[in-house]
Amino acid sequence: MKKILIVGNGAREHVLAETFKRSPQECKLAVFGTATNPAMKALATEYHVTTNLSDFASLKDFAGRFEPDFAFIGPENPLADGIVDFLAGMDIPSVGPTQALAQLECSKSFARDLLTKYAIPGNPEFKVFTSPEGLKEFMEKLAGEYVVKADTLQGGKGVKLSGEHLLSIEEGVAYASECIEADGRVVVEEKFVGEEFSLICFSDGETLIPTPVSQDHKRAHENDMGSNTGGMGTYSNQANTLPFLTEEDYDAAMEINHKVIEALKEETGAGFKGILYGGFILVKNGVKLIEYNARFGDPEVMNILTLLKTDLIQICEAIIEERLSDISVEFERKATVLKYVVPEGYPDKSVRNVQIELTPLPDGARAYFASVDEREGHLYLLGSRAIAMVGIGDTLEEAEAIAQAAAESVKGPVFFRKDIGTSQLIQKRIDHITKLRA
Ligand code: GLY
Repeated sequence: MKKILIVGNGAREHVLAETFKRSPQECKLAVFGTATNPAMKALATEYHVTTNLSDFASLKDFAGRFEPDFAFIGPENPLADGIVDFLAGMDIPSVGPTQALAQLECSKSFARDLLTKYAIPGNPEFKVFTSPEGLKEFMEKLAGEYVVKADTLQGGKGVKLSGEHLLSIEEGVAYASECIEADGRVVVEEKFVGEEFSLICFSDGETLIPTPVSQDHKRAHENDMGSNTGGMGTYSNQANTLPFLTEEDYDAAMEINHKVIEALKEETGAGFKGILYGGFILVKNGVKLIEYNARFGDPEVMNILTLLKTDLIQICEAIIEERLSDISVEFERKATVLKYVVPEGYPDKSVRNVQIELTPLPDGARAYFASVDEREGHLYLLGSRAIAMVGIGDTLEEAEAIAQAAAESVKGPVFFRKDIGTSQLIQKRIDHITKLRA
């Protein structure tokens, strides 16, 4: 009987728990989270709720009693705080990078500087500033088309774009100066125009195994309007890729991923064991890197693990034992569309503590719980993304119709993006790339 500790309690960790449970190997799960995810609670043998995933004193006690064979770290904050190093000190191996390697996500300047130092393609024109001197001139050099990235993790709120969040160079300089004050440094870079895609790989430090490519939708409302969110939904086609991506684009992104894994080893002396999430953008002259994450994307993980045919426990053990090259990982050749059902008012003024009802799901649909609570047999909204609905089908059209019906099955003060995965929106993405490349 394998024992697995899952750190985190969102929809990403729910699909992880479900995927471990459908392994041919029997397993017991323990969850270390900040809230009780009702679906994970039903799958786990042990569940500990803490105020903070970097509460290593509670973790020591909980993990010490459970004695897992390995841990899987879901979100980025505990990685930034060194949870993998801490667990290693207890002889518990993890799927997730050490603190030094997690800098790839947790320090935006580290990632950009790494690409430059090792001559890896994909960087924009950028500069790391440690004082406000020269900020204005650099933003002017970029013709006012710039991005300011806080160096540290800011829960998705640290990246601000000119023309969207920063309406003048003065506003850009002011925000960048705030970042320098808070973190000692800030990254200012050229703004890309194109279509984003997520190419996520299993990594044992040497070998990379890619998973289906998907595209996330950050904006809260249809037609990419409204505030930025954690991600309102994703899609991936039956070839496990995206309709606007050519084989050359895919290879270019994978080449960057491979070079980064090599560079990380050279730079830190250790291999990146975990999930390498390349956030890329296809622009008029090729593939560029937006950022790296050191964990599975949420929602992307649900497009990936719902199609995984290989035993996830076997994959995790191969990551830990550095023998990914010995196994083959297979995915079903199906399309997936995911639509996140979120509370009315999300993300700025979410309703919360209001009951919702889940009616039976259509065939081919899966539901993953995120920010919901169960009280006396009823589900309540907690304020963030509530339930991820995944449609799986032979074509994108079929998968989209299933995801749509599944999202509609949630009754209560909620909404979701009806346009994600539709032929109209996908055609818009394809036309955008065709126009850029023309
Ligand atoms: N899908 C965006 C993220 O996981 O960061």
